[in-house]
Amino acid sequence: MKENLEVIKAQAISAIETAADEKEIEELRVKYLGKKGELTAILKQMGSLDPAERPIMGQLVNEAKQSLEELIGKKKSELLAKATELKLKAETIDITMPAKTSKPGKLHPLNSVLDDMIDIFQSMGFDVVDGPEVETDYYNFECLNVPADHPARDMQDTFYLGENLLLRTQTSAAQIRTMETRKPPIRVICPGRVYRADEVDATHSPVFHQIEGLVVDKGITMCDLKGVLEQFAHEIYGKDTKVKFRPSFFPFTEPSVEVDVSCSECGGKGCRVCKGSGWIEILGAGMVHPRVLESCGIDPEEYSGFAFGIGLDRLTTTRYKISDIRLLFENDKRFLEQF
Ligand code: DAH
Repeated sequence: MKENLEVIKAQAISAIETAADEKEIEELRVKYLGKKGELTAILKQMGSLDPAERPIMGQLVNEAKQSLEELIGKKKSELLAKATELKLKAETIDITMPAKTSKPGKLHPLNSVLDDMIDIFQSMGFDVVDGPEVETDYYNFECLNVPADHPARDMQDTFYLGENLLLRTQTSAAQIRTMETRKPPIRVICPGRVYRADEVDATHSPVFHQIEGLVVDKGITMCDLKGVLEQFAHEIYGKDTKVKFRPSFFPFTEPSVEVDVSCSECGGKGCRVCKGSGWIEILGAGMVHPRVLESCGIDPEEYSGFAFGIGLDRLTTTRYKISDIRLLFENDKRFLEQF
C-alpha cells in the first residue's frame, strides 16, 4: 500500500507540474484528492491493515494529501498569473500608434459666404425668404416687366420645362411672390440657385447663385439703396473698399445701376482678376419699377422701393481666390477640404 501511495504521489506531482491551465489542474484535484479520488481510495482501504500500521499509513497519506494540495495551490496561482499577464499583453494599447482621425464635415465655401451675407442683411433688419427654382414665365419674366417679346429676354438664355414653366433665370422672381404675400414695409433677401443655358467655362456655369434683395416702404429713395449696398460691400470686402454705382438697365427697375467694388486682389491697380480694370462687378440694383409695384397690388403713388441681385459665386471666387467657377460645383474633396 505504501508503494502504491508513492506511485500515485509521483504520478500526481508530474501531472500537476505539466498541467497547462486551471481547468486541467481542477481535473487533477478531483482525480487525486476528490471524494472518489485515488488518495481517498487508499484511505478507505486502511481497514484491511494491521492496526499498528494504520496510524503510520494514515500519516503518510495525509502528508501526501497535504503536499499535493500545496502543489496544486501553487500551480494554480502560477497559471493564473501567467493568464493575467497574457491577457494584459493582448490588451495593451500602444499609445504611440497614430490615432484614427475623424474628418468632420465643413461648410461649402458658397455656404460660408452666404452665411456671412445673411448675417449682414439680418443685422440691417432683412428677413430671409425662399422661392421655387421651377418658376412660371409669369413670375420670372412677365410680372417683372419683361413681356413675351421683350428684347431683354435675350439677356438670359432660359431652360424651358414647358410652355409656361422654366428653371428660374433670376431670383428676382421671389420679389413678386413676396410683394403678393406681404404688405409694406417689406425688407427681404432671397438666396438661391438660378439657371441659364450658358456655355460652361471658367467664369460661367449653367447653375449659379444669387441673393435677391427687396425693400418697399413709404419714402424709400436711391439714397437708401446706396446706403444699404455700400454698407454691405464694406462689411464683405472691408472698410477701405471703394464702391462705384454705374447707370445700367433692368426692365424691373428704374433707374437701374450696377455696382462695382475696387478689386481686392490688386487694390484697384488692375490685375488678372479684375481683367485690368481695377473694379469687380458684384451686383445689379435699382428702384423698383412703378409698373412692377402696381402689378403686385402696391400703390406706387404711396410706396417706393429698391431691389438688388447679388452674384454669390463671384463673391466666393474673389474672396477665396478661386480661379475657376466650376470648382464650386464639382464636389472634388481635394478642393473642398481646403476651406
Ligand atoms: N436679376 C438680375 C440679373 O440676374 C439682377 C438684378 C438686377 C436683380 C437689378 C434686381 C435688380 O433685383 O433690381 O442679372
